[in-house]
Amino acid sequence: MCGIIGYIGKRDAAPILMEGLHRLEYRGYDSAGIAVAHAGELRLAKCKGRVRELEKLLPARFKGAPGIAHTRWATHGEPSDRNAHPHCDGANRIAVIHNGIIENAVALRARLESAGVVFRSETDSEVLAHLIAAMPERALDAAVRAALRLVTGTYGLAVLDAARPEAIVVARNGSPVVLGVGEREMFVASDAAALVRHTRRVVYLDDGEVALVRADGYETATLDGGPTAKTPSTITWTNEAFDKGEYEHFMRKEIAEQPEVVARTLSGRLEPRFQTTHLGGIEFAAHELLDIRRVKILGCGSAYIAGAIGAHLIEQLARLPAHAEPASEFRYRNPVIERDTLYIAVSQSGETFDTLAAVQEVKRKGGRVLGIVNVVGSTIARECGRGIYLHAGPEIAVVSTKTFTCTAVAFALLAIHLGRIRDLSTAAGGRLLTALAALPEQIDGIIAREAEIARFAERLALCEHAYFVGRSAGYAVAMEGALKLKEVSYLHAEAYSAAELKHGPLALISPETPTIAVIPRDDLYPKNLLTIEEIRARRGPVFAVTHAGEVLATADAMFDVPRSEPELDPILLNIPLQLLAYHVALKRGCDIDKPRNLAKSVTVE
Ligand code: F6R
Repeated sequence: MCGIIGYIGKRDAAPILMEGLHRLEYRGYDSAGIAVAHAGELRLAKCKGRVRELEKLLPARFKGAPGIAHTRWATHGEPSDRNAHPHCDGANRIAVIHNGIIENAVALRARLESAGVVFRSETDSEVLAHLIAAMPERALDAAVRAALRLVTGTYGLAVLDAARPEAIVVARNGSPVVLGVGEREMFVASDAAALVRHTRRVVYLDDGEVALVRADGYETATLDGGPTAKTPSTITWTNEAFDKGEYEHFMRKEIAEQPEVVARTLSGRLEPRFQTTHLGGIEFAAHELLDIRRVKILGCGSAYIAGAIGAHLIEQLARLPAHAEPASEFRYRNPVIERDTLYIAVSQSGETFDTLAAVQEVKRKGGRVLGIVNVVGSTIARECGRGIYLHAGPEIAVVSTKTFTCTAVAFALLAIHLGRIRDLSTAAGGRLLTALAALPEQIDGIIAREAEIARFAERLALCEHAYFVGRSAGYAVAMEGALKLKEVSYLHAEAYSAAELKHGPLALISPETPTIAVIPRDDLYPKNLLTIEEIRARRGPVFAVTHAGEVLATADAMFDVPRSEPELDPILLNIPLQLLAYHVALKRGCDIDKPRNLAKSVTVE
C-alpha cells in the first residue's frame, strides 16, 4: 500500500527520497511523487506508474531540503498524474502526502470549495493540504493539529511547508508512521524498511500523535497539543536483507531463506528437558493457559490460512477447540467475546487494518489476545502487547512465503506448549521437538529439487484454471497453494476440500483443468486416493504433492515430500506449492514481486 518517506537535514533530499521510494516499492503502488523545499518555494514532481518513471521526470538540479515523497495505491480517484501525491494548497506552498482514507472528505471539500478553494485532483487527500493552509495557526505543527481535529478517517501523513522549512510535520491515526533518528538529520517513513540504510534508531508514532520533526530532533504531541514521551527503539534488520542478492526475484529469495528463517523462529524455543517449548513473549502463566477453553485465530489472506493450519495443530496437540476466521469478517458480526477463549492475531506486517481492528474489538470487549507477528514494534504487535515474533527478517515480495511457513512453525510451538500443559505426553512432546528441529534441513532438501516442480509448472502455465484439493490440514495447504498461484501467475485457481468435490466442483473437471492434490500419508490417505480416481475418471490431470506411495500409480505427476510427524506434515507440503506458483508465474512472464493490483501491507479497510 501507499508509502511515505521524508527527510530533513543538510543533504539534498531528492536522492535520499528516491532511494527510499525504491525501498517502498514492494508495498505495491500505482503512482509516485516527490516535493522538496528550495529557497522558499516548493519543487514538485509526480506521475502515474513506477518510481523509475518519476526518476526520469526529475530535472538534474532538483535540489533542496526538507523533502517528502510518496508511492500511492489508489483508493479515491483513479491512478493518474494529478491524483498522485504530494497534493498542494492553492499557493503551492504546503505539500501533503497521505496514507489512509479521509472519511469526511466530501463534506470538507464542499466547505473549502464554498470558500473559493479550487481542487486539482479527485483524491480525499487533497483536502488536507487546503485545510492546513486555511488554519490561522502560525506554527506548522499547530496548523496540522488544528486541521486534523476537523478530520475523521485514517491517516499516516507528512506535511512540508516551503515557507517554514525548518521542520516537517507527520501525524498518525490508523496508518503507520515511524521517525528515523540520524546524526543532525531526521527521516520519516511509513515503514522502517525505508530507513535502515540511514539509521537503526527509530521512533514509532501512536494513533492520535503528531510529530514536529527538525534536523536536530523531534517533539511529539496529541492532537490537542499535549506533549507525549517516546522512547527510540533499534531495528535489527540488516541492509542486505533488503537486496535480492543472487536471486532474480525476492519471492524466490524468500523461498530459499526458509531453512534459515525457520531455524530462527525455532531458536531458543525448544525445551528438550521438559519435552515442551519456551515462548517468553506470551507472558501467560501456566495456570492462565490452563483456563483457556477455546482458541480463535484471526488474520487475513495467507495469515488467515496459516491460522487455519494453526487451529488444526492446536486442536490436535492441545485438544482445545480452535478455529480460524478471516479478521476482515470478524468484527462486523458483533462477535461474542469469551473470557476463557484465547484470541490470536496473525500478521506478517503487523499493520493490516482489518486484523488490527479485530484485535481492538476483542480488547474493547475484554478478551485476551496474543499476536503472531513478523515485524517487531509494528502496530498489531504493540496493540497485542504479547505474542510470538517470527524473526523471519523483512519480507519484500508482495506475496508471503517464508512468513507463512514461519507462522505455521510458530503455531506448532504454541500448540506443543498448550498441549504439554494438558494431555500431550512427554513422549509425544519429544517426538515433535525432534521433528521441528529437522524441518530446516527437510525444507532445504525440497528446495534443492526445484527442477522437478519447474517441469510440472511448464504444463500448468499453459492452463487457465486449476483446482487445489486437500482434506483437513491438507485443505489449508491447498488453500494457500491456490492463493499463491492466482496472486503471482494470474491463473484462476480454486481450493476445495477434497470431500466437497463431488458436491459440485467436479462438474468443471476436464483435461484442461488440472488438479493439484495435497495428500499427506495420514489416516485420510485412502480417501484421498479415491478423490484422485474420481478426477482421473473425468480425464482431469492430477499433480500430487504427497509422500511416496501408491499415488505414484494414480496421479499424472507427483512430488514426493519428506515425512515429518503427521501434525507437522502440512508445513513441508506447502513448500513445493510455493515453488510451483513461482515457476508458473515465471513461465507466464508475470511481475512476480509486484503482482498487479496487490499491495504488501493492506492498511485500509
Ligand atoms: C498473500 C499475502 C496476503 C497477506 C495478507 C495479510 O500472499 O501476502 O494475503 O497474507 O494481506 O497480511 P499480513 O500478514 O501482513 O497481515
